[in-house]
Amino acid sequence: MKAWQLTRLGIEGLELLEVDRAPLGPREIRLRMLACALNYRDLLMIRGEYDPRLQLPLIPLSDGVGEVVEVGAEVTRVAVGDRVAGCFAPRWIAGRPRRDLIRATRGGPLPGMLATEHVCDAEGVVRVPPFLDDTQAATLPCAALTAWSALVTHGRIRAGQTVLLQGTGGVSLFALQFAVMHGARAVVTSSSDAKLARARTLGAAVTINYTQDRHWGKTAAAHTEEGVDLVVEVGGAGTLDQSLRAVRPGGVIAMIGVLGGVAPTVALTKILMNEVRVQGILVGPREGFEEMNQAIATRRLTPVVDRVFGFDEAPAALRYLESGAHFGKVVIRVAD
Ligand SMILES: NC(=O)c1ccc[n+]([C@@H]2O[C@H](COP(=O)([O-])OP(=O)(O)OC[C@H]3O[C@@H](n4cnc5c(N)ncnc54)[C@H](OP(=O)(O)O)[C@@H]3O)[C@@H](O)[C@H]2O)c1
Repeated sequence: MKAWQLTRLGIEGLELLEVDRAPLGPREIRLRMLACALNYRDLLMIRGEYDPRLQLPLIPLSDGVGEVVEVGAEVTRVAVGDRVAGCFAPRWIAGRPRRDLIRATRGGPLPGMLATEHVCDAEGVVRVPPFLDDTQAATLPCAALTAWSALVTHGRIRAGQTVLLQGTGGVSLFALQFAVMHGARAVVTSSSDAKLARARTLGAAVTINYTQDRHWGKTAAAHTEEGVDLVVEVGGAGTLDQSLRAVRPGGVIAMIGVLGGVAPTVALTKILMNEVRVQGILVGPREGFEEMNQAIATRRLTPVVDRVFGFDEAPAALRYLESGAHFGKVVIRVAD
């Protein structure tokens, strides 16, 4: 089999190598990989900015979908021929997070999916909605489930509520689609007017260019009575102050990303005086992934795939994600 391996930190440290096929344990399955999707986290991992103790070599990318081609003697959960996606934290099945469950994640420290084959425990995969093609299905494990956990599992979003979504990357566009699915109003920010126009076609009710309007949090709040009910916070230090200006008393800030830095300077009084709930999100358990897939299948929600690269073009795909030019998800097709 072939696998992309990170042999030293940096995109230039990726090498496409011929590696031995892994033997199959009794509870394991072998996948013929079909497609993988990129997340901003993969870039951080590859650059050595996510985990300073990352063990190399490592097969990168947390997200992928494959066809089951072999099952171990004790496997009953899936069968040969099933099309499944790997779970981001494959041992976190349901319930509250535990350190050992949420630290064991694909694409670092566990092996990722950017290979022609992947062997893993049968418990750590879910069947994907049949109507999605392989490139669309590959986008679900991290970005989609993170948005689902933020809006649905923790945010309990309801029709008529307003959510604020930052940027037009993978997590934020899934959050936009889930907001529309639940009858909520979405306020979307972006650095690009062209991307905002595309967000409106997906159902964004209000759009704000955050490079032109530095007070975008206040602007978002002005489109509501008391402020937005929930913020999908992907900017971190660069955006939290504006998010606190946008959110309503009693509202939720779903802390997801750190695109604009990790150490914010904010007045804590804004949190306590308004009873704001700051909810950390780490993707989600398998149970949430299965629930989300039911909703995606029922509502026939189609993930926004910006661009598909070939398996040999993995470094170019990562550089494209790094450029920030994308709208939604960047995908690598592994096999037809
Ligand atoms: N906690 C978790 O479970 C979890 C899960 C997934 C992702 N994340 C994190 O969430 C963040 C987003 O991930 P992603 O995979 O969706 O990234 P992505 O697809 O690469 O999206 C990045 C987009 O965010 C916007 N952006 C960049 N810097 C920004 C800033 N300072 N303020 C506002 N928007 C900004 C840009 O949108 P425009 O081009 O429209 O301006 C950019 O295209 C990352 O920090 C990632 O590590 C966390």
